Amino acid sequence: MNAPLLKHSPTSIYHLESNVRSYCRECDVVFATASGATLTDIDGLRYIDFFAGAGSLNYGHNNPYLKKHLLAYIEQDGVTTTLDFHSDAKSRFIERFEQVILTPRNMHYKLQFTGPTGTNAVEAALKLARKVTGRSTVAAFTHGFHGVSLGALAATANADKRGAAGVELSNVVRLPYDGFFGPDIDSADIITSLYQTAGSGYEAPAAIILETVQGEGGLNCARLGWLKRIEQLCKDLGALLIVDDIQAGCGRTGTFFSFEPAGISPDIICLSKSISGYGLPMSLVLIKPEHDLWEPGEHNGTFRGNNPAFVTACAALDYWQNTQLQDAIATNAALMRIRLEQIIARLSPGVARVLGRGMFLGLRFDDASIAGTLVSACLEQGLLVETCGPQSEVLKLMPPLTIDTPTLQQGLEQLERACFRTLSINATPTDALQGIA
Ligand SMILES: Cc1ncc(COP(=O)(O)O)c(C=O)c1O
Repeated sequence: MNAPLLKHSPTSIYHLESNVRSYCRECDVVFATASGATLTDIDGLRYIDFFAGAGSLNYGHNNPYLKKHLLAYIEQDGVTTTLDFHSDAKSRFIERFEQVILTPRNMHYKLQFTGPTGTNAVEAALKLARKVTGRSTVAAFTHGFHGVSLGALAATANADKRGAAGVELSNVVRLPYDGFFGPDIDSADIITSLYQTAGSGYEAPAAIILETVQGEGGLNCARLGWLKRIEQLCKDLGALLIVDDIQAGCGRTGTFFSFEPAGISPDIICLSKSISGYGLPMSLVLIKPEHDLWEPGEHNGTFRGNNPAFVTACAALDYWQNTQLQDAIATNAALMRIRLEQIIARLSPGVARVLGRGMFLGLRFDDASIAGTLVSACLEQGLLVETCGPQSEVLKLMPPLTIDTPTLQQGLEQLERACFRTLSINATPTDALQGIA
């Protein structure tokens, strides 16, 4: 039997929560239940979720297939937490990951389970790269986001997050991401010349860490050719290429790994967020075997063995044993992009543009305040979204990959209404004009 829902007015209790809380300041809703691509609050109001737990719910809330496996595991008293002892659930996940993800892609990696946050996976990757190369400096990119613990934070570019460190953030050099200087300048030329010009002051780093699409940094997408050039530069410098696929991975951009279309082969890959498939905490670092120079226990953490997460992670891999999900992502992504282009076509020229790749899309507004206003306007329509970018100028849209078409259409309609109301456009819904199914 379900417990009765508690009804707390947000102000009556949440002032006890630290000032550090943030999302709930823009979204004064008390969520209670969730299913697929929708959330329901304590008053029974339903919201379509284009936030997806910041990318940790790619397969939707309480995905029934994953839930079935999870409940069966708990019911049979499956072990819950095992640090890095062997466990049945972990063995099954490793075996299945090798079978479904690595082998078909001809990828050879060892799996390191770190503490279950993305930032801990990044910490491990950076430490290992330093150990492997004997070099201390890591190169990271403008607008990159890699987490908020000190090592990862040093690689993160966001000024507010860095400001909270309270100590010097060191041993990271900042490089210009693709497009940083505008469309006419290829930053790979600049980076290559910085590293290859004698006396430039740039020394070969331990690693170059990057996101193929910068999730927090504003949905900047690296071109595939640019990624190839950075990979080549790493080879030339004897530096490791680390792809932080914590947000862009697990299908978000259309393929399991976001870098697949670029044909690159990173030395280290960080996964977290949707790797467990169910929103359960889990992180995974993939390491080319020749770089696995860890001593036993050198990077540890109590919650590396979250077995319920291994169970749902293993079941989620079933989505990747054929191309069905990948095809659905492509269809949904096309539908989203067309609708977004139609929305901005109705706004004044230059007000907004569409950014991103796959189902990792957004609208960047020239006037940064608009995106923030739209978060509230969308919520009024029953749509949960967030912003990203250095000035929160991008409205980020990340529905679960498994969202059904009517719900996706409904969410896009809510977005359109919110945009037109916020920007005072008296418009007939695009569906009526354009005849979208
Ligand atoms: C690309 C990337 N790396 C690392 C992190 C940090 O993950 P976590 O918040 O789980 O520590 C995030 C979180 O948004 C991320 O998007």
